[in-house]
Amino acid sequence: MPKIKMLETESPQEKALLIGVNLRSHEELLSLDDSLEELELLADTAGVEVVGVETQNLSTPNSKTFIGKGKVEETRILAEELGADMVIFDNVLSPRHQRELEAAFGESIRVIDRTALILDIFAQHAETSEGRLQVELAQYEYRLPRLTRAWTHLARQAGGGGGRAGGVGGVGLRGPGETQLEVDRRLITTRIEYLKGELEKVRAHRTRYRDRRKKSRIPVVALVGYTNAGKSTLLNTLSKSDVYVADQLFATLDPTTRRVDLSGGQGVLFTDTVGFIQKLPTELVAAFRATLEEISEADILLHVVDITHANASAQAKSVQETLVEIGAGDIPVITAFNKVDLLKDPSTAMDALDSFPNTYPISAITGLGLDELLGAIEKALYETYIEVDVRIPYEEGQLISMFHEKGQVREVVHAEQGARMIGSIPRRLLHLFAPFSLVPLPAQDEDADLEFEDDSEHF
Ligand code: GTP
Repeated sequence: MPKIKMLETESPQEKALLIGVNLRSHEELLSLDDSLEELELLADTAGVEVVGVETQNLSTPNSKTFIGKGKVEETRILAEELGADMVIFDNVLSPRHQRELEAAFGESIRVIDRTALILDIFAQHAETSEGRLQVELAQYEYRLPRLTRAWTHLARQAGGGGGRAGGVGGVGLRGPGETQLEVDRRLITTRIEYLKGELEKVRAHRTRYRDRRKKSRIPVVALVGYTNAGKSTLLNTLSKSDVYVADQLFATLDPTTRRVDLSGGQGVLFTDTVGFIQKLPTELVAAFRATLEEISEADILLHVVDITHANASAQAKSVQETLVEIGAGDIPVITAFNKVDLLKDPSTAMDALDSFPNTYPISAITGLGLDELLGAIEKALYETYIEVDVRIPYEEGQLISMFHEKGQVREVVHAEQGARMIGSIPRRLLHLFAPFSLVPLPAQDEDADLEFEDDSEHF
């Protein structure tokens, strides 16, 4: 199926003019210059050559064209002079902004925003069928409200996948009185429905797999981090495997899981996940729900930070924010400051990040510091579980299932008064089981209640 591509990156290399707007009404994690530098790297990863950069300071975006009217004209002239095929906005454009800008720039210059660029990179890097389905769905959902006359070639493209799309190809013909734009919308809507259905099937399979994994109770450590921080390299070194590593943004899109045995003999599954980036639009986060579920169900998060990056601190904060956004804010985090092999004096860089929890300097390439890091993971895993001996009355049936689902049951004896269960449970659930304990328990901290409220919602 020829997928719709946001950018045609085949040779000759396309040229882009970047636009960044400093919005005084909006505080961003990165400065405008740093954000534009990142956008340039994104463009480079997508195979687009950056021929110029324009900026503007605004208190609020122009409701029609995002940038001011004068700036639109200035940019159009500059883009023509530089031979740019497209203008890439660092800010997220609304469908209206995009339409107005396309009208203003004319047919020879395409208008793209950061989201479209990231989607294009995702499309290039998706390997598994689930990854490809997720990206294609996100692309179409992004595209649907933005359809203009510029996309009227769509029927032919989407039609190519008729077989897989459940007959979409055949629907490419116009119905009575239908404009090409309406045909395009109809094709996309049909395709979106089809993709959603396919994704549900893949997800059902993934859930079954995850349930099996849960039963085996091998703890899961999810590697999280800003794009290019070194997560795949770390996974490779830890598991001595050969996960794809590249000095590119979002080289990893699909979750990869490897088993690593800790020194105490405990097997642990390490899962590599999609890299985070600032201004990652919420729709995009939603599109990668399956990948992100791997994170929210992990026992521990290993946050990999590229400590040599000039914006390490802002990048790490952006990761923390995204973790909260996807409901993983209360999972214990260990932070690995990676790439210390590149630093003359690691302590200086690390001072800047001393507010991060449980930090360990490492080099995923040379292996420096990995023993200490694994030791910390082992300790944290041990600490996340606590031994209990409880008798749970049958009317508290949900607690009995919770023990089976989230804990490790060693012994169950059924009696009239309830089920006596011995084993270990995640420490954060302790206060739920505490009223039924047959032995004295350690005091609980105040945070436990908060965590419980969250957890009981899922339950
Ligand atoms: P995404 O797929 O974008 O999320 O990236 P990632 O976090 O998986 O990063 P990846 O492992 O692909 O590494 C990115 C780049 O950093 C590669 O060029 C690696 O060789 C390099 N790198 C990773 N770890 C280290 C390290 O410890 N030291 C040095 N010098 N380079 C490293």
